[in-house]
Amino acid sequence: MSYYQGKTVWLTGASSGIGLAMAKQLAEAGAHLILTSRRADALEAVRQGLAHPERHRVLALDLSQPEQAATTAAAELGDQVIDILINNAGVSQRSLILDTDMKVYRQLMEIDYFGVIALTKLVLPRMLERQSGHIVTVSSVAGKVGTKLRSGYNGAKFGVIGFMDSLRAETYGKGVIVTSILPGFINTQVAHNSLTGDGSALGHEDPDNAGGISAESCAAQSLQAIAKGKAEVVIGSGLSKLAPFLQRFFPGLVRNLVAKR
Ligand SMILES: NC(=O)c1ccc[n+]([C@@H]2O[C@H](COP(=O)([O-])OP(=O)(O)OC[C@H]3O[C@@H](n4cnc5c(N)ncnc54)[C@H](OP(=O)(O)O)[C@@H]3O)[C@@H](O)[C@H]2O)c1
Repeated sequence: MSYYQGKTVWLTGASSGIGLAMAKQLAEAGAHLILTSRRADALEAVRQGLAHPERHRVLALDLSQPEQAATTAAAELGDQVIDILINNAGVSQRSLILDTDMKVYRQLMEIDYFGVIALTKLVLPRMLERQSGHIVTVSSVAGKVGTKLRSGYNGAKFGVIGFMDSLRAETYGKGVIVTSILPGFINTQVAHNSLTGDGSALGHEDPDNAGGISAESCAAQSLQAIAKGKAEVVIGSGLSKLAPFLQRFFPGLVRNLVAKR
């Protein structure tokens, strides 16, 4: 039987890219989904296209306001048991430090860092009470290696790996599994939706993401790693997949590579 069969999975970022591919695969695997992102209409269209649409529900939240999102979610979900939380929603960045407003740094942190904490804090008490649950966050290879144009995204994605490491330590032996997923370049809308220096979206693809592996492949590998209870997994191909390994063992080489790119 699949790890996901009959489990309630709260999945953020379910309207697009990796989250959308995960939603389809999770529904096929027998999960009951709570689908979250900002756009209720897009999520409803996703729900209707999934296997067994009646098993799934839509919960639209704006994670750029994490406390408000958590309050709304608490009211909507009541005492519903969440078996697995997948914090996948996120936004990237394409702007130099010199050109980036402080409000953009704050927005990246709200969505990519505080949003994860707010939803985690909502589900954690019941998971500990039940001594059962799984919390997953989609960070990034950008959470291990800092590169140009992504200073705020790097900060948030580095930070969230630290948060997940701490969560794993604090829940050790208490029945809660903690997994961090670190994708490299994946072919999704992430570059298109990236924030520029004034907070507006980039509005076009970039060749790195367009040349990456598919969202479907990333989702399948992520779900496999989650089912195995992995602590941390890097997913992708080429240099973006190798980068965390190189950073650990050849940090000088990586510093040179990212400076010249
Ligand atoms: N693609 C890559 O190369 C790559 C690499 C490493 C890590 N990642 C990470 O993978 C995750 C998924 O990204 P993706 O590549 O699938 O990008 P994507 O296609 O742009 O999808 C992003 C998702 O996040 C949701 N989202 C954005 N802002 C939100 C907000 N304020 N509140 C709630 N939901 C919000 C979006 O839905 P709405 O627009 O409906 O809100 C969408 O469902 C992100 O955490 C990203 O950082 C991606």
